[in-house]
Amino acid sequence: MKVFADTSNVDEIKRLNDLSLIQGVTTNPTLMMKEINEQKKTKQPGDVSHWHEIVVQICEAICKPVSAEVTSTEVGEMVEEGKLLSELNEHVVVKLPCTPDGIHACRVLTQFMDIKVNMTLCFSVAQAVLASNAGAEYISPFVGRMDDYSAGSGVKLVKDIQNAYLNDLSGSRAPKILAASIRNVEHFNQVAEYADVATCPPKVIWDIFNHKLTLSGLEQFNNDWKKTNE
Ligand code: G3P
Repeated sequence: MKVFADTSNVDEIKRLNDLSLIQGVTTNPTLMMKEINEQKKTKQPGDVSHWHEIVVQICEAICKPVSAEVTSTEVGEMVEEGKLLSELNEHVVVKLPCTPDGIHACRVLTQFMDIKVNMTLCFSVAQAVLASNAGAEYISPFVGRMDDYSAGSGVKLVKDIQNAYLNDLSGSRAPKILAASIRNVEHFNQVAEYADVATCPPKVIWDIFNHKLTLSGLEQFNNDWKKTNE
């Protein structure tokens, strides 16, 4: 399973990428808003980046897939915005919501413009099937939010989508399953069995290393090594 960083913070992305911990990035309007608000605290008004500039900075920093989400909701506007986003950098993957307009825009962008699409806000197998038929590159089931709203198990949704794609005889090329809304390492561990990618907030990625047996084992090895006086 590949690991993407679910953040718009360029410094954090560079840090994770420099350590070879990530193979891509996902952003959304909320994460962009947070990054812009952070920049407003430390920069002069004229130095705060437009969100398109942040997308370019992330792409140039990692040269790996970066999902950038449209803010339009109508199909024609989504297509125009998706085209514009894809022109920012070759690594941009256009993120569209699982709505009728989003599915239609996905079809137009993938079939006629050869632009990669990540269908987001997926909460059912049915939405994942429609995204597959529309030619999406990625489908993003939201694991944590399924759990939040007692809408069923988020991990089971990922498993059910994998099962549907494996059993699909229609000839569609199935999207990669990108498990999103990952809130903790346990989510990560569970989706690893079914997903192609898990996109995680940086904290979850750092938490992977906070296993008490790794930490205590290392401490013991270091202490024992010191006893050799080497
Ligand atoms: O990138 C979308 C998704 O990962 C959002 O997660 O924690 O806001 O539900 P969350």
